[in-house]
Amino acid sequence: MSQTVAPVKAAPLPQATLARFAREVAKYPDDQKQSAVMACLAIVQQESGWVSPESELAVAEYLGMPPMAVREVTTFYNMYNRQPVGKFKLNVCTNAPCMFAGGPRALEHLCEKLGVQPGGTTQDGMFTVQPCECLGACGDAPVMLVNDRHMCSFMSGDKLDQLVEGLRGAED
Ligand code: FES
Repeated sequence: MSQTVAPVKAAPLPQATLARFAREVAKYPDDQKQSAVMACLAIVQQESGWVSPESELAVAEYLGMPPMAVREVTTFYNMYNRQPVGKFKLNVCTNAPCMFAGGPRALEHLCEKLGVQPGGTTQDGMFTVQPCECLGACGDAPVMLVNDRHMCSFMSGDKLDQLVEGLRGAED
């Protein structure tokens, strides 16, 4: 089924962001700068917390790509936040090895503890809880990822509670 990109204006990008884009583009031949699309989107997300439609368009214009080609990247990889998320994004793996080792239970535990539905964000904007695909650490199941960077292994209910309290404590 085809999807259309709603009409938006490209977000203005700070010079510092453009400089980071340029460093990524420089890694590829001149006629293949679109190869830097994932890196540029990751920079946008790192700086803004998410990738808005306006940012997608800005990346498309910068790289000389059709906006839909950028949209295809942000919708294929679930690491890209297509809407604002909490300060701490908690991705719980629910693929088969984690599923058999308690991944769905870990997701449910977190959602109950934080009072959100899967995919939801707490009212204070602190936590977003999401199911996710295999994180490549099946031997440590069930696993989860904090803010796309920090892997947490063997996440029992107790360890989840400790993690949440630790992250809350880091804010105090
Ligand atoms: S299935 Fe969870 S890390 Fe692979």
